[in-house]
Amino acid sequence: MRTKEIKILVTECKNLEELITTDRELVLAARRIAETAYAPYSMFKVGAALLLEDGKVVTGSNQENAATPVGVCAERSALFWANSNYPESAVTAIAVSAIDQSGQQALRLSPCGICRQALLESQHRFKKSIRVILDSRNKIEILNSIESLLPLSFNGDALNSVE
Ligand code: THU
Repeated sequence: MRTKEIKILVTECKNLEELITTDRELVLAARRIAETAYAPYSMFKVGAALLLEDGKVVTGSNQENAATPVGVCAERSALFWANSNYPESAVTAIAVSAIDQSGQQALRLSPCGICRQALLESQHRFKKSIRVILDSRNKIEILNSIESLLPLSFNGDALNSVE
């Protein structure tokens, strides 16, 4: 028997000024697109901005539905649009931002499990790590890979027995 520790690195920034330019622009794009969310049920408006390897920025917001499970998160709105329109282009970073029910920037923000898995698929497909920038009210957190959000994850390699 062996117990192992899995560590993740999270870089915390106090504000936008501490970010490198590309991260800052991505966060600003995520903040802008959050305004377009269709979130009449949760009143939680989320925006996601993806940076593609050729420098393009693709954005998306959450789109809810009266039949709850039909709704889709901002991260997957942006990701599937990017993969549909630029199928050859790897995603290299994602910024996520949200406005909560009080109309303020969300205090806490982190992608849901389904979005983590969807982002992991993209990372695995293009064999390129996706940097994650989580923009919340009092801090901006940066992670270097989707695997940091989803340790012991499942991917397509598990479907065959090659070691
Ligand atoms: N939501 C996102 O779009 N992204 C997240 O990272 C967290 C949650 C959406 C789903 C739903 O429309 C609303 O926020 C409340 O859960």
